[in-house]
Amino acid sequence: KIPLLIDTDPGVDDALAILMALNEPSVQVVGLTVAAGNVGLQHTVANALKLVEVGNAPQVPVFKGCDAPLVHPSPDAADVHGADGFGDVNYPKANGTVHDEHAVQAILRLSHEHTGQLLLVALGPLTNIAAALKIDPTLPQRIARFVVMGGAVTAHGNLTPAAEFNIAFDPEAAKVVFDAFPMTELVDWEATIAHGLPHDQIETWLEQDSEAACFYELISRRTRNWAKSLRGFGDWHSADSLAMTVALEPTAALRTERRPLMVETRGEWTRGATVIDWNRQTGRADNVQIAREVDTGAYFGRVKRALGG
Ligand code: BDR
Ligand code: CA
Repeated sequence: KIPLLIDTDPGVDDALAILMALNEPSVQVVGLTVAAGNVGLQHTVANALKLVEVGNAPQVPVFKGCDAPLVHPSPDAADVHGADGFGDVNYPKANGTVHDEHAVQAILRLSHEHTGQLLLVALGPLTNIAAALKIDPTLPQRIARFVVMGGAVTAHGNLTPAAEFNIAFDPEAAKVVFDAFPMTELVDWEATIAHGLPHDQIETWLEQDSEAACFYELISRRTRNWAKSLRGFGDWHSADSLAMTVALEPTAALRTERRPLMVETRGEWTRGATVIDWNRQTGRADNVQIAREVDTGAYFGRVKRALGG
């Protein structure tokens, strides 16, 4: 089995991605390393613990990581995910407890234990991974594949006009990470918009008779309604589950493009933007492989199965 380490800030779409991973027989989830992002660390950790319980994987360790961006404080995404990150439904707390080891140390240790094999998937701000790189810059040499949900490759952001949440929450961390990894597989916000989940489709899957569907129906209700009413979109945009699909099934990325990516850490309007050198004007080496088109059949099938179908 492929060892899979998920760095995350759950978050309603993180939850779907994690249930998807726990449901995939070809991988073994070796840990969830958690950071602040969508909401504060206390909530993201509690949510991660609940997910391993709901996903029938209480043996998967949850590691508590960084509680704030590296340099500048940033607003969270409680307006989208609820104040507790899981739709404020007051779900019964998990029985499991967080592991003693800090998430940053866990990332480094697991990279040694699974040298050359580890699939590292980042679904939140890149603070934990940047901190790990500061301690040990050789980390990328031990990672088999690194998949990131983040960025907006043609600058149609969601947190700001130019920047996507995971990058804009901690641009300094994102810069450290993208500058260090030789080839990051990127699933960005624009790919997310292009591969939405139709509301009627997901509502059908949520009616499945399973604990995962029942729990997910509850915690995602607020976000789905928010997406329907406020944004008026016909589809629900679940970024992290799309990224997880590409992580678990690389051939699901039907069209990819490799380019240099730079993170904007300053700028009046563009802090946190992911600048892609589409025309190769910088002379920099390609460091991202951007998923431009994803197999929606593969994606929808994985969402359905993650919810017990
Ligand atoms: C990303 O930001 C978060 O709100 C989501 O969980 C996802 O990881 C989308 O921009
Ligand atoms: Ca996330």
